[in-house]
Formats: sequence, C-alpha cells, structure tokens
Amino acid sequence: MAPKVLIVCLGNICRSPIGEAVLQHVASERGVDIAVDSAGTAGYHVGEEPDDRAIATCKKFGVPINHAARQVHAEDFSEYTHILAADESNLRNLERIRPRNATAELRLWGSYVDNKPIDDPYYGGMKNFETTYRQCLQLSNAFLDDVFGTTTKTATS
Ligand code: 4NP
Repeated sequence: MAPKVLIVCLGNICRSPIGEAVLQHVASERGVDIAVDSAGTAGYHVGEEPDDRAIATCKKFGVPINHAARQVHAEDFSEYTHILAADESNLRNLERIRPRNATAELRLWGSYVDNKPIDDPYYGGMKNFETTYRQCLQLSNAFLDDVFGTTTKTATS
C-alpha cells in the first residue's frame, strides 16, 4: 500500500503546505507512489490559501503548491500511515488529540535527520521561508529514503 502522509504545523499556511508540496514533488521526481496532504493543529486559517511568501518560495524553486488550510481531525490518525509534525509543540498537540484507535505513525518530521524542528517562518521574511523550503527538501529526501530506500533517489532531488 502506498504511504499516505500528513504533514502538520500550527496554522497550515506556511510550513506544512510547503512540506506537502515539496514531498509530493520529490516523490514524483523519484517515481514513487505516495499521497500527501497537510493540516494545522489550529483552525485560525481554515480555508485559506498558503501564505503569499510560501507560494512565492515554491514558485521560485519550480514546485507546484496548491492547498486550502484545514485543521487536523481524529479520523486523520487512521486515514494516514504517517503523520509528521513540524515542531515539538505540534507533536505534543497531536499526541493530545490522538485517538485510541490511531494507526498512523506519529513522529517529528525532523526525526528522520537530526531531530531539529522546522522553525516557524510566519513572523520572518523571505529568507526564513527559503530556510523552511530547504529543510523540507532535506526532510522529504530523508523520509523517502527511509520508506522506499535510497535506490529511488534521482540526480535532481
Ligand atoms: P505555520 O505558521 O504553522 O507554519 O502555518 C503560522 C501561521 C499562522 C500563525 C502561526 C503560525 N498564526 O498565528 O496565525
């Protein structure tokens, strides 16, 4: 069964939609089958497009981004095979709402590399968004290496 991955941050307009777009893009480049979505632990921005700076950053690197913000819900824990949190605060919030029948593997996304959080770029500038993008790229490759093996790696990713 192809992995179904949910990337989660706080507002679902900066880090996790970038993560969703980058992970889907890298998986497509590798030719591996994966479903990716993203959500926020908070509902402040439900229905909104990603932040303009997130869209501009993905555009700069040629990565398609298209998402409407939504809040994470209990069913996600059985719908997805992996739920990957952007930072420790998101992880704690997810652990708090995780239902007893959860089947998804819940982890800090950074745990595939160095346990570092994806810091929130919301109050920063374009430079912070570019850092987020690069981190998502590294974490996408690390996740796909873990799940599919390094043999699927391509020259461009
Ligand atoms: P995100 O960034 O969690 O990466 O989407 C944020 C977006 C909005 C807010 C906080 C973080 N906010 O407080 O509205």
